[in-house]
Amino acid sequence: MNIRPEKVPFITLEGGEGSGKSTQIKLLSDWLHSKGVEHLCTREPGGAPGAEEIRHLVLTGDVDRWTPLTEVLLYTAARSDHVERVIVPTIEAGKWVLCDRFADSSIAYQGAGRGVGVEKVRDLQRLVLGSLKPDLTLILDLPIEVGLERAMSREGGKAIKEDRIERMGKALHEQSRSVFLEIAEQEPDRCVVVDADQSVDELQLELRTIIRGRFMADG
Ligand code: TMP
Repeated sequence: MNIRPEKVPFITLEGGEGSGKSTQIKLLSDWLHSKGVEHLCTREPGGAPGAEEIRHLVLTGDVDRWTPLTEVLLYTAARSDHVERVIVPTIEAGKWVLCDRFADSSIAYQGAGRGVGVEKVRDLQRLVLGSLKPDLTLILDLPIEVGLERAMSREGGKAIKEDRIERMGKALHEQSRSVFLEIAEQEPDRCVVVDADQSVDELQLELRTIIRGRFMADG
C-alpha cells in the first residue's frame, strides 16, 4: 500500500453519545494495521497521563460539579497536554493519528450545549492549538434518542450513567448534534458527516472508503 508521502493524516472522529466511535476506531486500527500503516489511536479527554487525570475530573461526580466555563478550560487543558506530548510528536514521527473526539466536541458540548458560546470556545481552541487542525473529521451522526438508548444499553441499562456529560439533559445533546452538523457545513473540506444509524460493518466500510480515497495512493 502506497501512502501519499506528503500526508501523515491526523483524523478525528466526532459524534454524539452511542454513535459507535470507539468501536469504529478499533476496527479502523485493525484495518490500518493489516495494511502496514503505522498509526496511533488515542482519545479525548485523555490520551496522555496528565490528560487522563483531567478526564477523571471532568467525567465523574455531580452534573454541576464544574461551571461550564471551568469545564471547557479543563477539557482544553487536557487537550493542550495531549497535543504537545502525544499528537504532535506522533505526527512528526510519521505515524497517523486517529483520535476519538477533539476540539469540535468542546465547541459542540461546552460552546453550545453548556452555553459558554461557540465563538468563545472556538477562540480558546485557536489560542491553544495554533494552526493544528485535523486533516479529516468524521462526524458520526444519529438521532439523539437512538444514541442515548445505545449508550444506556452499553452500560447495562443502568438509569444512572457513569459519564457526567451523558447524564446531562436531552437538550444539550440536541444542541451539540446541530453544532456538529453546522461545523461540517462550514468546513466541508475537513468534515464528512456519516450516518451512524447503520450496522457496524456498513459504517466501517463507509469510513474505510473515505479514508482510502483521501490518504491512500490506491484510493
Ligand atoms: P466519550 O463518550 O466519547 O468517551 O466522551 C466523553 C464525554 O466527554 C462525552 O460525553 C462528551 C464529553 N466531551 C465534552 O463535553 N467536551 C469535550 O471537549 C470532549 C473531548 C468530550
